[in-house]
Amino acid sequence: MIHKFIKGTNPNKPTLLLLHGTGGDENDLLPIGKMIDQEANLLSVRGEVIENGMPRFFRRLSPGVFDEQDLMYRTSQLHDFVDQASKTYDFDRSDVIAVGYSNGANIAANMLMQIPYSLRGAILMHPMLPRKDDQIPELKNTTVLITAGNNDPIVPLESTQALKQALNKHGANVSLSWFKFGHKLSSEEIQVIIKWYQQSLVHQTKHLN
Ligand code: MLT
Repeated sequence: MIHKFIKGTNPNKPTLLLLHGTGGDENDLLPIGKMIDQEANLLSVRGEVIENGMPRFFRRLSPGVFDEQDLMYRTSQLHDFVDQASKTYDFDRSDVIAVGYSNGANIAANMLMQIPYSLRGAILMHPMLPRKDDQIPELKNTTVLITAGNNDPIVPLESTQALKQALNKHGANVSLSWFKFGHKLSSEEIQVIIKWYQQSLVHQTKHLN
């Protein structure tokens, strides 16, 4: 997969897996990744599906209606890519935190729902429930932050809530923060994400070490 890898300066820090929204690419979330943790490895990937010239991570049938078979296939492919990248770039595969926006958040959410131990944690910005499935793996040691807009024209509030419930039900530790915006990211949201990351993931890493 087309990607950028930026080696971190602190080997005890996780690898942030950066996943852009529809129409983005591997450059989009690098600045946010750096803001979240300037010492962590950054692995930023470009989605391989093209919709009207715009890269995405999986096919959709119409806005908000996903091609579930393609979603599951692309999720496995992304998971295998991260496995391979951990060998190529020599990072700890068990310490990967996804940071995804919109379509990138949806595939990250599906990774949690489909593949056991695929991610240690995730920051899902404006995700929705990618598909209904009760066969979700145990997520007991998985820490997730969902950020959402309370008047998002793309993501219904119920879909955000349903994702939180699905992840919670299978043991993930999920926080949900609402913002007075639509689908766009705001600087207030980024500040909340940075604070949450420092409190929920960095301290946990230090504790484990
Ligand atoms: C999706 O297709 O993943 C969501 O509708 C978000 C987006 O517009 O990309």
